[in-house]
Amino acid sequence: MALTSLWEDLHPHPAPAEAVVDGEWDALVIGAGITGLTTATLLARAGLAVAVLEARHVGAGTTGRSTAKVSLLQGTQYSRISRRHSDAVLRGYAAANAEALAWVTRFCDDHGVEYQRRPAYTYATSEQGERSVRAELTALHKAGVDGATWVDEVPLPFSTTGAVRLDDQVQLDPLELLAGLRAEAVEHGVSIVEGARVRRLHGHGPYTVETEAGEATAPLVVVATNMPILDRGGFFARAEPARSYGLAFRTSGSAVDGMYLSADSPSRSLRDTPAPTGSLLLVGGDGHKTGTSGSELGHLDSLRAWTHEHFPDAEETHAWSAQDYVPHHALPYAGPILPGADRLLIAGGYSKWGMTNGVAAALAITARVLGGNLEWASTFEPWSTHELTGVPDSIRINAAVALEMTSGWVRKIATRDDAPICTHLGGVLRRNDAEDSWDCPLHGSRFGPDGSVLEGPATCALRGSGA
Ligand SMILES: Cc1cc2nc3c(=O)[nH]c(=O)nc-3n(C[C@H](O)[C@H](O)[C@H](O)COP(=O)(O)OP(=O)(O)OC[C@H]3O[C@@H](n4cnc5c(N)ncnc54)[C@H](O)[C@@H]3O)c2cc1C
Ligand code: FES
Repeated sequence: MALTSLWEDLHPHPAPAEAVVDGEWDALVIGAGITGLTTATLLARAGLAVAVLEARHVGAGTTGRSTAKVSLLQGTQYSRISRRHSDAVLRGYAAANAEALAWVTRFCDDHGVEYQRRPAYTYATSEQGERSVRAELTALHKAGVDGATWVDEVPLPFSTTGAVRLDDQVQLDPLELLAGLRAEAVEHGVSIVEGARVRRLHGHGPYTVETEAGEATAPLVVVATNMPILDRGGFFARAEPARSYGLAFRTSGSAVDGMYLSADSPSRSLRDTPAPTGSLLLVGGDGHKTGTSGSELGHLDSLRAWTHEHFPDAEETHAWSAQDYVPHHALPYAGPILPGADRLLIAGGYSKWGMTNGVAAALAITARVLGGNLEWASTFEPWSTHELTGVPDSIRINAAVALEMTSGWVRKIATRDDAPICTHLGGVLRRNDAEDSWDCPLHGSRFGPDGSVLEGPATCALRGSGA
C-alpha cells in the first residue's frame, strides 16, 4: 500500500506525457524537488537553456511529503552544528537559512503561493529535553538568530518543561510551492521531463546523461536527487538515511497556533494547515534509520496513539512517511561531486530541514556557476576542512553499515530467506510493512512491490522484477 501525503492528495499529478530525453543543453538538473526546481529556475532566469530530468513526477520525492515548515528554528539543529563546528560556520548556516527563508517568501508573494506566518517552538517535556533546548537557545544566539527567546509556558494541551520560541516563521503547502516554481521555470524555457530516471552519466565535461527515455548532453550537471545517485564522491557513505512519519487530522476546534518540534525522543512535530472545513492538525515524527525498524506500521501507530491521547477528538484523514538524509558532519552539501569537478555539482543532506536548505543550496550552486559571491556558501562546500569534524561519526556509522551488510547476508543464508538484494551495493533488503516496499538498511534505497526504485542512491530496479 503506497501511503499518500495530504499534499499529494490535494494536488494529484496528471499522468506524465511520454518522456523523451535528447539534445544539448547548457545545464541538466536531475530531480524535480525543491532543490532541483529552484536551481533550474535560477539558472534559466540567467539565460541558460536548462532541462530537468525527473524519475517520477514533480514533487514525487521528499518535498511532496514534507511537513514544510520554512523556519530558522530547526529543532536542535544549531546545537548539533555548534558541537562540531566553529561559530563562523554556525553563523554561515544561519545566514544561508535566513537568505533562503527570505527568498521563499518573496517568491510566494510574487507568484501568489499561499503561506502562513506562525511562531516556531522547540519544546521539552523532560529535564534532559530542557537542557537540550537551553543549549539550542545558546547556539541560536551564537549563530546570530535574532528574536529566539525562552518561554516557560507553551500553548500545547500537555505539560512541557519550556521551549525556545521564534516568531514570524513560515509554513506552506510544498506542492503549491513546487507548482509555482514549475510555472516560472517553464516560462523561462526550462524543459521538465517526468518519467525519465537517470541511470548513468558519462564523460568528464561535457557530460552525457543516460536515462530510461534517451540521452542528453550538457557542460553543467546538477544532481538534486536528495541523496546523490552517482557513486562518485561516496556521498551515500557520508549521511544516514532517516525515515519519519506524518499524519493529518480534522479537529473540532482550532488545531494548534504555532509550529512545534520536540527536543525529546521520540520526536513530535505539530503544525496546522488551512482546509475548506477549518484547519487540519499535522503531526509528524517517530523517525528511525531506514530499513532498521521492526515494524514501520508500529511507528505510525505510536504517532496515532500519542495524538489521540493529547487531541482526543482528532479524526485522521491522511497517513504517510518520507525520507531525508542526515550527514555525519551535520551540514548540507552544495558543490562539486569531486574536488575540482566544478561543472558536476550535487546538493543534499539537509537533516530534515530542506525547505530552507534546499533553496540555499540552489542559491549557492547558481552563484558558483554564474560567478556570484555568497559569503555563507563555503558553509555548504563539500570536501572542505570542516567536513573532517564528521570523520569520527562517519567511521562509527560506516562500521555499523558494514556490520549490517554482513549480518544481513548471514541471516539470509542461514534462514534461506528470499529477501531481495539492493541493486546499489548489495545490501539485503527488509520489508517495510507500512508501505509494502523493500528498504535497504545500508544507504536507504527503497523499492516498490514491483521492484521499481522508489528512492536512491540505487538507479536500477530489483533484478528479475522486469520493472
Ligand atoms: C517527514 C519529513 C518531514 C520534513 N519536514 C520538513 C520541514 O518541516 N521543514 C523543512 O525545512 N524540511 C523538512 N523536511 C526535509 C525536506 O522536506 C527535504 O529536505 C527536501 O524536501 C528535500 O528536497 P530535494 O529537492 O533535495 O529532494 P526531493 O524532494 O526528494 O527531490 C528529489 C527528486 O529527485 C528524483 N530522483 C531521484 N532519483 C532520480 C534519478 N535517478 N533520476 C531522476 N530523478 C531522480 C526524485 O524522484 C525526486 O523527485 C522533512 C523531511 C521529512 C522526511
Ligand atoms: S542503498 Fe547502498 S547497498 Fe542498498
